[in-house]
Amino acid sequence: MQIMKLDHFIRKCSFIGALSCVSLGSISAEQFVLNTANTTLAFETAREGVELKYFGSRLKRGEDLFSGRALGQEFPTYWDVTEGRHHNEFGFSAVMPDGSFSSKLNFVGAKLLDVDADRKVLQLSYKDPAYAVFLTRFYQVSQSNDVVETWTEVRSEEEGVVEIRQLSSFVLQTRSSDPWLTGFQGAWARESIANESPLIEGISELSCSIGTRTAQTTQPSFVLSLDGQSKEDTGRVIMGSLAWSGNFSFRFRRFIDGQITASLGLNPLHSEYRLEKGKALTTPRMRLTYSDSGKGAASRTLHRWARSYGIRGGDDPRMILLNSWEGAYFKFDQKTIYGMMERAQSMGVELFVLDDGWFGQGEFARNNDKAGLGDWTVNREKLPDGIEGLIGHAKKIGIKFGIWVEPEMVNPKSQLYKNHPDWVLQLPNREHRPQRNQLVLDLCNPAVQNYIYDFMDDLLSSNPDICYIKWDCNSHVTNPGSTWLPQDKQSHLWIDYVKGYYAVLDRIIAKHPKVVFQACSSGGGRIDYGAMQRHHEFWPSDNTDARERLVMQWSLSHFYPAMAMASHVTVSPNHQTGRKTSLKFRFDVAMTGRLGFELDPKNLDQADTDFSKRQLELYKEIRPVVQLGDLYRLRDPLAYNDPALMYVHDSGKKQTAVVFAYMIERKRMDGFEPLLLKGLKAGALYKIEELGKQPKNLLRYEGKVVSGEFLMKQGLPMDWPVKSEDYISRVVRVEEVD
Ligand code: GLA
Repeated sequence: MQIMKLDHFIRKCSFIGALSCVSLGSISAEQFVLNTANTTLAFETAREGVELKYFGSRLKRGEDLFSGRALGQEFPTYWDVTEGRHHNEFGFSAVMPDGSFSSKLNFVGAKLLDVDADRKVLQLSYKDPAYAVFLTRFYQVSQSNDVVETWTEVRSEEEGVVEIRQLSSFVLQTRSSDPWLTGFQGAWARESIANESPLIEGISELSCSIGTRTAQTTQPSFVLSLDGQSKEDTGRVIMGSLAWSGNFSFRFRRFIDGQITASLGLNPLHSEYRLEKGKALTTPRMRLTYSDSGKGAASRTLHRWARSYGIRGGDDPRMILLNSWEGAYFKFDQKTIYGMMERAQSMGVELFVLDDGWFGQGEFARNNDKAGLGDWTVNREKLPDGIEGLIGHAKKIGIKFGIWVEPEMVNPKSQLYKNHPDWVLQLPNREHRPQRNQLVLDLCNPAVQNYIYDFMDDLLSSNPDICYIKWDCNSHVTNPGSTWLPQDKQSHLWIDYVKGYYAVLDRIIAKHPKVVFQACSSGGGRIDYGAMQRHHEFWPSDNTDARERLVMQWSLSHFYPAMAMASHVTVSPNHQTGRKTSLKFRFDVAMTGRLGFELDPKNLDQADTDFSKRQLELYKEIRPVVQLGDLYRLRDPLAYNDPALMYVHDSGKKQTAVVFAYMIERKRMDGFEPLLLKGLKAGALYKIEELGKQPKNLLRYEGKVVSGEFLMKQGLPMDWPVKSEDYISRVVRVEEVD
């Protein structure tokens, strides 16, 4: 990183678009203005601290930013609260070695660093005036998009121990007379559902305290709408997501005067962190984006940012895969797997993924979820030719190969547990309490990290043709205690576990950079930008029912791009809900994300096999539009019986859009309203072509050329058949013509 002195930067500010500083000349207060492509953050030094003056749309006249009242302190501490200088929520609190718990911070200076050609980071440094405790706040911005990344580091040079009680990634300060907050909550098989309500006066908290499967119960993401209930295309919204795969807390406090203060970051519950002299603690990054044209634009910003910086391989369209889980569960042998691979390949599937059940020996063979986790050697009773045999067969028939692992867990019925009972998280005087018959390994312990690294490295080094890993994590943290951490640092568990998980994954990725990684956690969990930085995609839910996935994927699309969302066609009736839907409907939902299959193709009849082949060909055609295009959410499946969304991709020469529209329950009078498209060029002409059309029921605009203006203002009539089954769908390509 190149360090640029701030005063040098001030002189140069007029040349730098993405980030500028304004000097007030004779006025001694320092002012800092951070610009992203379309937004501005402004700070001003005041008394001992720094104030946040503005976070909103980019303004042309920097001077105006400093005329009004500050939004609040940049990083209030507990001292500010007790002094009455601040409205209760704070970012930092610590107990000093002498027992004092009134942490105070004085501003000591600012620095600007180049991260790369696109990104810069502003550092604001503080120090406690009475103790050798140093705190730095970071704001990283990019010229090319509107995501601000912010985080905190605290370092102690005090003799003795400084106990950190709270350290936030950001303290959000804003104002609104009608704020609404959206959280993304759920449970297993119904993960991450958008849930919006007015932000009440007092405290509203989104949080998680179960360690590993954060996003299964509550996503570390929020939408704060400042102009009433959030809308897709209008109104001011702030969207935020914490890059952390563990306990988090977002505490929003709304005051009677319209002030909103939110402390966002690590969950302080039982998470005191004891710093010895010379030690530091860094928080995860909070990613924020502001939009004054609704949450649709904010989601598109986040998706583009994610493809550049937030997920792995954001430029590479994803392969279509078949995963063995719902097709075979634990019950398979080599013949079953070879058969699945062959049929998948002949339908046009590009990658085969062998799920759970391939490992464990003898009494610990993994034939159900009760035994074998931790014993990562292939079960030759099931697979006599081993992984090499499977890969050899895959290569012979022309399909790629991937495999499932769950490295962080162990069944008590396993050789690993017999050998290392001290490696599991456990509490003195408490029974082991497995979840799904498994215990969580202590990733704080370097020996456990090494064991995971070694077996993964061995698996991937001895089988260099494994090109995909599904990394599962099917238990939250039970028995939260570590035999590795000393008694006075047991509360480091929540932070050190996640850091251990990242450390081991980072080592594996560094050694095997080409392998694609999927994050999974008995369905939705580990869906956060900490895990996603290390993975290419995630498994949103074990619930593969297309009707339910419509809602879950819609909700997740607020933060995550389609290419990262694994979405599989499974059998009907669905294994989780028993719902019957047509193969077309199931495809038309799965095609809005990273398409895959999760069934044994031998159970498809000839008509379904032929249909699937055609659908895979179509998906390959529209894959760049879905996976690299911009998402426009048209009609919310939580609100409408005929939900719809579309992707728009600009190749530089022309725009191609694909519209996905659904009729959930066929009601006699629903679906007559034309669908208003978005994101097209008003002046351009587009050809309409339904994909997978049925000759008996063509769109009236089928094959016609219409203007973008017409499609966005008058809309595309969907011409739903008047009499039909429930769960019908249309996929329409809208392609710009010369
Ligand atoms: C979890 C995953 C499933 C499957 C099973 C295997 O439930 O979400 O997709 O991999 O584990 O045990």
